[in-house]
Amino acid sequence: MAPVCVLVGAMGAGKSTVGQALADALGVGFRDTDLDVEATAGKPIPEIFFDDGEEHFRALEHAAVIAALESFDGVLALGGGAILAEKTRAALAGHTVVFLSVGLSEAVKRVGFGAGRPLLAVNPRATLRHLLEQRLPLYTEVASLTVPTDDRTPEDVVDEIRTHL
Ligand code: S3P
Repeated sequence: MAPVCVLVGAMGAGKSTVGQALADALGVGFRDTDLDVEATAGKPIPEIFFDDGEEHFRALEHAAVIAALESFDGVLALGGGAILAEKTRAALAGHTVVFLSVGLSEAVKRVGFGAGRPLLAVNPRATLRHLLEQRLPLYTEVASLTVPTDDRTPEDVVDEIRTHL
């Protein structure tokens, strides 16, 4: 069993919105590894970062990705930083991975003040700019398809993904 599609991309790329819409269109389930991590830890992501640190969060995230890749057959969205781990990127090989790309201004608009996203607690715009630059090669590395999301509706993005599945 494997996900029909794995969505990667930065915070604000629209992974949750597009993922749910794509899953609905395909008649399959939608899963978000952020929620799996929260369920395992028994607390929200900001509390995991605060209490246990980012390294612990990343370990839970990697385990959540592996479990979902092995046991879930719907649309899977990964947290924006999941691709930081080399072992996570390696595990994505052979899967249908769609990179939802987004520009800085649009990402900032979508995440606002970064509520619920501990990495954006301070200076969200500068942080997002840095993360987008740093991670772009990693998203590209794992992606079998890149779909831009700026100035497009979720339905439009879903339609484009579906033509490739
Ligand atoms: C993170 C993105 C978040 C979440 C955590 C860390 C990141 O997920 O996993 O706050 O490092 O980019 P979303 O991309 O779903 O917001």
